[in-house]
Amino acid sequence: MYKIVSKEILNSAVELMVIEAPFVANKCEAGQFVIVRVDEDGERVPLTIADYDREKKTVTIIYQVIGYSTGLLSKKQAGDYVQDFVGPLGQPAPLHKCDHVIGVAGGVGAAPLYPQLRKLHEMGVKVDVIIGGRSEEFVILKEKFEAFCDHVYVTTDDGSAGIKGFVTTVLQDLIDKGEKFDEVIAIGPLIMMKNVVKVTKPLEIPTAVSLNPIMIDGTGMCGGCRVTVGGQTRFACVDGPDFDGFLVDFDECMKRQGMFREEEHECKLRAAQ
Ligand code: NAD
Ligand code: FES
Repeated sequence: MYKIVSKEILNSAVELMVIEAPFVANKCEAGQFVIVRVDEDGERVPLTIADYDREKKTVTIIYQVIGYSTGLLSKKQAGDYVQDFVGPLGQPAPLHKCDHVIGVAGGVGAAPLYPQLRKLHEMGVKVDVIIGGRSEEFVILKEKFEAFCDHVYVTTDDGSAGIKGFVTTVLQDLIDKGEKFDEVIAIGPLIMMKNVVKVTKPLEIPTAVSLNPIMIDGTGMCGGCRVTVGGQTRFACVDGPDFDGFLVDFDECMKRQGMFREEEHECKLRAAQ
C-alpha cells in the first residue's frame, strides 16, 4: 500500500497527488510513468510521473478526473492509501544537451513535460515553454515553469488568459519571428501533437512527443499500447512513451484511443447509480 502524502486540486478537472513510493522515487527519470491501482479490484491506470523527490521518497502524479478509475482515485484524500504504485515504467525521455529547446504543453500534458524541461535546464540548455489550456483555469504549472524557463508563453482557446488561440499559433509565430530551436518537445492531446509536427517537420526541427495510449500490463506483453512509429509496431509502455514525432502515425493512435469510449461511459453511469 502506498500513502498519499498530500493532494491538491489544480482545477475543476485536474488533481495532484504526492505519493510515498521509495523505490519508484529512487529510480525514476523524467519521461517515465507508473501504473496505479486504487484498490484490490481496481483497473490499472497509467500516469506519467510529474515530479519526484529522492530525499523525501515521494513521487508526484497529476491526473485528469476523466473516467471511472480516476474518479475513484479522486475520492482518496491525504493520509489514505492506494493499493499499487508500480514503476518506474517505460524509457526515460531521450534528452540531449543542446542550446535551445521549447516545450509545448496542452492541458494536463504540462505535467509530464515539467520534469523533462527541468532536467534540460539542469543540463545547461536554454528552455522556453508554451502552455495551452481551454481557459485560464486549465493552464497548469505556470509558476513551476517560470522558476527555470527563459520564456513562458500562455495560450487559451477562449482568450481568458495569455494569447487567444492554440499552442501551435504561438509556436508558428515564434518560428516566423526567427527564433531558433534545436528541438521541440510536445505533450498534450494527440491532435495537438500532430499539429505541432505539422509546424516543425517542414523546417526539420526535431520534435519529441509523448504517447499515452490504452495500456493494460505496462510491460510489453498484452499489445494494448501498440502504436505505429516509422512504419513499425512499437509498444508505448516499453519502447516509449516518448517517440520521434515525425514518425508517429497519429491518425491510428487517435482511432485506437477512442476504442473503449462507450464502455467507459457505461461504467461511469453504473458507478453513479
Ligand atoms: P485540451 O483538449 O483542453 O487541449 C489543451 C490544449 O492543446 C489547447 O488549449 C490547445 O492549445 C492545444 N490543442 C488542442 N487541440 C488542438 C489542435 N487541434 N491544434 C493545436 N493545438 C491544439 O487538453 P486536455 O483536455 O487537458 O487533455 C490533455 C490531453 O493530453 C489528453 O488527451 C491526454 O490523453 C493527453 N496527455 C498525454 C500525456 C502523454 O504523456 N502523452 C500525458 C498526459 C495527458
Ligand atoms: Fe501491454 Fe504495453 S500496455 S504491451
